[in-house]
Amino acid sequence: MALREHYECVVVEIDDDGIAWATFNRPEKRNAMNPQLHYDMEHILIELETEPSAKVIVLTGAGNSWSAGMDLREYFRETDNDPEAQYKSFMANKHWSWDILSNSRKPTIAMVNGYLFGGAFVPLANCDLVVTDEDAIYGLSEINWGIIPGGIVSKVIVDKMPFRNAMFYSMTGRTFDGKKAVEMNLADIAVPADKLRAETIALARELMEKSPVALAFTKQALRAVVNMDVPQSYEYLMTKIQALQFMDKEKTRARGMEEFLDNKTYRPGLGAVKREE
Ligand code: ACO
Repeated sequence: MALREHYECVVVEIDDDGIAWATFNRPEKRNAMNPQLHYDMEHILIELETEPSAKVIVLTGAGNSWSAGMDLREYFRETDNDPEAQYKSFMANKHWSWDILSNSRKPTIAMVNGYLFGGAFVPLANCDLVVTDEDAIYGLSEINWGIIPGGIVSKVIVDKMPFRNAMFYSMTGRTFDGKKAVEMNLADIAVPADKLRAETIALARELMEKSPVALAFTKQALRAVVNMDVPQSYEYLMTKIQALQFMDKEKTRARGMEEFLDNKTYRPGLGAVKREE
């Protein structure tokens, strides 16, 4: 299998920098996630995972919306009486937005360019980093539909947001903006709309300067220790750090030591200091 030229509900392109842009592409429906969008994302993310030219994956939306959540017509109403179709699309949703995204070895960034509602909180939470338009509108609107934040949304919001905020926004269904999303740990950086893309590219480039295998191991380590106690975390991290040295064929650690201790050409503690070649 390989990336297809065309997907019905998502546009995917890998630029010269190595940024893979996956853009939800149903702007006329505010990128509401229908079954086909889930099938497209499932295929795309699996392919990007093994595509060497894709160094960082960015998820964004076409038009004025990141995603208006699950498609109330196609994902819910039209499958209510079709258990087979419902099972397939629900599993595709879980597969890409939970299993594949949260286990990706590549850095993933959500670039939130507008509306973000309901079920879209799951892929948001499972991206490693989030850059948001400061005026993007977020909403846990499920209560307004007479449902609960299901499809694992309740779990991801209590994991990510302060509990009291999660309760407030889930019970009221009130919206909040990108600045507030940063305040509540749902996003990392909020910028004006006209700076969103440049900020995302700068962040992606910063990540591309790191060792890819060290980044992958860092992501795995942080995600794994969340569910461990302290003794388990020590044990796991000791093993993981040894495994990293084995996996890092570029010997980044040894090179860093040599540059810092012997050649004195590199000071990582001072931030993004350009390395001498
Ligand atoms: N499911 C299905 N269709 C949707 C959805 C959705 N979640 N969101 C928007 N659309 C459709 C609208 O029905 C409309 O379709 P139409 O042109 O065929 O009538 C089209 O997208 C444009 O929507 P508008 O409401 O006209 O766009 P506007 O820019 O005025 O508002 C907004 C955008 C705020 C996102 C609004 O569409 C909205 O509130 N959508 C619902 C958001 C929501 O509550 N999502 C959670 C769903 S539940 C869940 O995810 C578990």
